[in-house]
Amino acid sequence: MNPEYFNVRVGCLRADISLPFDLFVKIQNRHVHYLRAGSALSAAKIAKLSSTDRVFVPSSQRQAFKDFIHGQLEDQSVEAVTKAEILRESSLSLVEEIYENPDVGKALEDSKKLIHEFVKFMEQEPEGMDHLISLSTHDFYTYNHSLDVGVYALGIGRLAGYSTEELEELGRGALFHDIGKKWVDVDIICKKGALDDVEWAQMKKHPEFGLQILSEYDVSEAIKACCFEHHESFLGNGYPQELPGNEIHPMARIIAITDTYDAMTTQRSYNQPMTPKDAIEFMTTKLKDRYDPELLRILREVMFKL
Ligand SMILES: [Fe+2]
Ligand SMILES: [Fe+2]
Repeated sequence: MNPEYFNVRVGCLRADISLPFDLFVKIQNRHVHYLRAGSALSAAKIAKLSSTDRVFVPSSQRQAFKDFIHGQLEDQSVEAVTKAEILRESSLSLVEEIYENPDVGKALEDSKKLIHEFVKFMEQEPEGMDHLISLSTHDFYTYNHSLDVGVYALGIGRLAGYSTEELEELGRGALFHDIGKKWVDVDIICKKGALDDVEWAQMKKHPEFGLQILSEYDVSEAIKACCFEHHESFLGNGYPQELPGNEIHPMARIIAITDTYDAMTTQRSYNQPMTPKDAIEFMTTKLKDRYDPELLRILREVMFKL
């Protein structure tokens, strides 16, 4: 990652409005100036850029970029579905940084603002959560996974009666729940096909690794629990601690449910994803004893509303 630029998803740019930052594209590993701050992009240009997936903004203009995103989210004339897309696309860059950037402290700090925007959007737009859920991509990247788990978790938390502050904790816990995968060999993370025993043993360490990473920072117990306890099971046979159901942190119970749901509905190279309906059916029958029954009921409610 070049520290002079940060990457931006094309999906959070909008046509025919002036953008208050410069844009660069990467050509043969070099950043090439594409648009001057204060100019606008046509819809045709945005469509063309979409094939490159990422564009770049100078790090010195990060604040201008954030202000732009914030302004779009506050703008009454922008439709909720567009706002949901802007929010999602602008978040993916941050979530990517959480996993790629060694500076976890900075990512933890940045995530506060981000989750705050999500929760505010959910509270202001009645259909906001539905739009966010329908934008879930179901593909196999840790960052998309963390963001999707976050969106579903917020949906459950809201119906479970969480306060704004609690929702913000929960959302951050979701973004960081798999942070321990930073310390697992990338070959294991990316392996196509089933893991062998040795690989699986290392993979199962990610909740402990995550706790170690987060313990170096000023992070709440709830966020640590989302990370350390999201593979516990209500049956008491999860890992790493084999906690009985009533000892699993309530927020970690939500992450456990949304994590499984996302994994089941996600395309991986070696399996066919389940449809949301089938995944919920499977979780509420075959797997039901593993989860908090009330939260499972709420998951069904959140998903079947769509
Ligand atoms: Fe995990
Ligand atoms: Fe996960």
